Amino acid sequence: MKATAIAPSNIAFVKYWGKSNEALRLPANGSISMNLSGLYTITTVEFSSSYPTDDVVIDGVVHDKATARVSKHLDRIRAIAKTNLRAKVVSKNSFPSSTGLSSSASGFAALTKAAVDALSLNLSEQELSILARQGSGSAARSIPDGFVEWVKGSTSDSSYAYSLYPSEHWKLHDVVVIVSDEKKSVSSEEGQILAETSVFYEARMNYIEQKLSEAKEAVKKKDFERLGVLAEREAFEMHAIMLTSWPPLVYWTEATIVFIKQIHAWRKQGLPVYLTLNTGQDIHVLCEEQTVNRLQTFLRDLPYVKQISINTPSVGARQSNTHLF
Ligand code: PMV
Repeated sequence: MKATAIAPSNIAFVKYWGKSNEALRLPANGSISMNLSGLYTITTVEFSSSYPTDDVVIDGVVHDKATARVSKHLDRIRAIAKTNLRAKVVSKNSFPSSTGLSSSASGFAALTKAAVDALSLNLSEQELSILARQGSGSAARSIPDGFVEWVKGSTSDSSYAYSLYPSEHWKLHDVVVIVSDEKKSVSSEEGQILAETSVFYEARMNYIEQKLSEAKEAVKKKDFERLGVLAEREAFEMHAIMLTSWPPLVYWTEATIVFIKQIHAWRKQGLPVYLTLNTGQDIHVLCEEQTVNRLQTFLRDLPYVKQISINTPSVGARQSNTHLF
C-alpha cells in the first residue's frame, strides 16, 4: 500500500486571494495558472498497520504543524477508502519551501495523488483536484496538465481545476528568481483570511470575471504582451490588497523591491519581461523562449540573486515508480 507521486508547483496569472468558504476552501474567485517544470514535490505515502500514527518528513525535517495538516488531509482520503490505517509520508521539494514558491500547491497535489494511489482508489482528475483543493487551494491547479483554470464553484464538488491547454500549447517561460530562502512569517492560509479587511477587495471582485476572460483569451492566442501586462498588474493588485489588509501583510524584502525596479528598467530598455509574485519575496519573471538567454546573462550580474529556476509549462500530478523509502 505504497505509492509515489510527483506534482508541479504552479504560477497564477489571475490569483486566488480570499475565500468564500473557509472550511471547504472555496475561493472567492476563479483563477488561471501554468504548471512549472522545475519546481516540484515528490512524495511517497505508505499506509500500514505497523504505523501507530502518521509520520511525516518533509525535506528531511519533522514539523508538528505540517504533520497535523497532512494528517487532516489523509483523513479526507481515509474516509473515502473507509480505512483507519496510518501512513508514513516522505516528501522532497526541488526548491526552498515557505518562501513564496507555492510548495503547498505541489505538496498537497503530490500528497493527494500518492495517498489515493496507495489506497488503490480509482478517482477522476476532477475528484483529485477537489481533494487537493481541500489541503491547499492552489494545489487544485497542480493536478491537471499545462495551462489550468480553477472554477470557483459554490459547493465542494463544483470547485475544481481543469486543463485549458496541455503543456505543449505554448513554450512560455517563467524564470523564478530566488533572492532569499528566508521563510515567510505569515502563511498564505493565515494571510487569505485578512483579504476582506482591505478596502480594495470589493473593487477587485467587481471586475475579476472580465480579467479571467482576458487571461483565457491571451493564453489561447499566445499573446505574450497581453498576458504579461495582465499578470503583472494582477500581482501588484493582490499585493495592494495584502498591504492594505489589517494587520498589513508585507511579503517583500529589500531585494524584491530592488529587483522589481530592475525589471522595469530592463523593460524600458526593450527587454520583453513581466513579473509576478506570490506570498513571498521571490519573483517570477515571465518571458518568451527567445529572451531567456539574455535574461540569464543579466541575472548573473546581480549580487542579490541567490538562485534561479527556469520553468516551462509542465504536466500535472503523476505517479512515479521511484519511491523515497
Ligand atoms: O493555496 P494557498 O493557500 O497557498 O494560496 C496561494 C495564494 C497565492 O499563491 C498567493 C495566489 C495563487 O493563486 O497561487
